[in-house]
Amino acid sequence: MKPYHIGFGREDLGSNPPKMVLLSGEPERSRHIANTYLDNTRLLSEYRGLTSYIGYLSNDKPILVATSGMGAPSISIVVNELIQVGVTQVIRVGTSGSIQPHVRAGSIVISQAALCRQGAANDIAPQDYPAAADPFLTVALVQAARELKIEYHLGITASVDTFYEGQERRESSANSHLQGWLCGITEEYRNLNILNYEMEAGALFKMAGVYGVAAACVCAVIAQRIEGEDIIFDSKENAVEKAIQVALKTAQSFS
Ligand code: URA
Repeated sequence: MKPYHIGFGREDLGSNPPKMVLLSGEPERSRHIANTYLDNTRLLSEYRGLTSYIGYLSNDKPILVATSGMGAPSISIVVNELIQVGVTQVIRVGTSGSIQPHVRAGSIVISQAALCRQGAANDIAPQDYPAAADPFLTVALVQAARELKIEYHLGITASVDTFYEGQERRESSANSHLQGWLCGITEEYRNLNILNYEMEAGALFKMAGVYGVAAACVCAVIAQRIEGEDIIFDSKENAVEKAIQVALKTAQSFS
């Protein structure tokens, strides 16, 4: 049986099927990881832009690289189906916007847990169910960042449903009006020692808790919300590459 959205099934994964997936929001990032860093890469599906590959790390470990799409509804479908085909370890390789002055664009954030303000996540578990990363996978990400001498920040991430309204973007949004409860929310989160905004980790962590798999998240910092709303394209490629390197090194060493 091939799960509908990811477009591949267990029967497509061979006799030594991968347990781990590197999951990114963008199909282009999945393609880059698979084609640049894996051996014997094989495209599994491109249905709906949810591009997935199977390949092998340099130690011959099989691994999947898949695309989650944007936000909790999309990642919930993809992760559900990945678990159905045998995945038990998920590393999200994402992008995010810093909300702390010391978390600079170009660095990476490793999420230990998420504030989960995501509607789809409430279909998976109650609102106050913890959205916690797997401790072993998360420590492995930290270890990899240290060994690679990559600047990283470990802490709490805010996972929200919207890039504009929910992350308090006004100037770059089609509608500069924000609902009252969102006005000042970024400062509120800053004071709660939250490091960054992104749109998938919270739902992923809740799913991992409920479905009994391990999930972790490393994000490239590509916006500095203290200074502005825009994506800082000058540092995006480099920061994303750092997140990829940390994820790959973790994947290589994690059993
Ligand atoms: N992804 C987000 O969700 N927010 C940002 O600011 C950058 C990337």
